Amino acid sequence: MAEGAIAVTGASRGIGAAIALELARRGYVVGCLTRKGRGVEQGKIDSAIKGRLLNVACDVTDEASIAGALDQVSRRTGGLRGLVNNAGIHIEGESATLPTATYEEVMRVNATAAFVASREAHRHLAAAGGGLIVNIGSYFDKVGVKGTLAYCTSKAAVGAITRCLAVEWARDNIAVVDVAPGYVETDLNREFLRSDRGRTAVERRVPMRRAGQPEEVARLVAALFGEDIKFLTGETIYLDGAQGINP
Ligand SMILES: NC(=O)c1ccc[n+]([C@@H]2O[C@H](COP(=O)([O-])OP(=O)(O)OC[C@H]3O[C@@H](n4cnc5c(N)ncnc54)[C@H](OP(=O)(O)O)[C@@H]3O)[C@@H](O)[C@H]2O)c1
Repeated sequence: MAEGAIAVTGASRGIGAAIALELARRGYVVGCLTRKGRGVEQGKIDSAIKGRLLNVACDVTDEASIAGALDQVSRRTGGLRGLVNNAGIHIEGESATLPTATYEEVMRVNATAAFVASREAHRHLAAAGGGLIVNIGSYFDKVGVKGTLAYCTSKAAVGAITRCLAVEWARDNIAVVDVAPGYVETDLNREFLRSDRGRTAVERRVPMRRAGQPEEVARLVAALFGEDIKFLTGETIYLDGAQGINP
């Protein structure tokens, strides 16, 4: 296995925690970038993988914090081999009255931070001879959802960031892939998915008739690192129980 760590943003809970744990189980050293700096707070951490998890504080809305965290992971693990831009927020609001500040807050965490972290990771990955950046997008990147303009816009931007970086950084042997889940039960949407409206939405719209599990997203991300197919770059891979293609 190559030297260096994979940094995962928003590794405290939900999908990010599942990704960090799955990567560590598969033998990777993982830089767990979280706001509190306490690492994975959800899920079972067996003693066998504890030593492969490096906890670093990082708020993705703060450029200096992102740059410092990636420098620290690289310095303490012998380099950076990958980055997972997972941190994200979801704020709903009727578009006719959506405050600009709310729109910008969602864009900042979900889209701008993915660009900034990728930019700050670039020199580390290039110095290592290449690497993989996985952005966690959403199938909301291609649909219109009432009250969800900021989130949908941010995830469409993640797809665009993925494509642009893939084209520019192919010369550095850096692949960039957007993994775009459908409904996955986490703190982000647990209340909705367990409500009558949420249960009906899943029944009617998801051909698989269930929400995904964070571990399913984590296994796909880990497989991308494991297979290391550099020719697969710039693409958005939907992981949504066929919801996005269901008319
Ligand atoms: N759940 C779904 O159905 C679904 C579907 C498609 C895509 N996604 C995407 O998957 C990703 C993870 O979502 P999730 O469902 O796992 O949500 P979650 O359980 O709410 O977790 C969100 C994570 O993002 C972190 N975060 C938020 N703001 C941050 C900031 N400023 N700096 C650093 N970390 C920050 C949170 O950290 P704290 O613990 O500090 O708050 C937490 O670790 C997001 O990009 C989301 O858009 C989720």
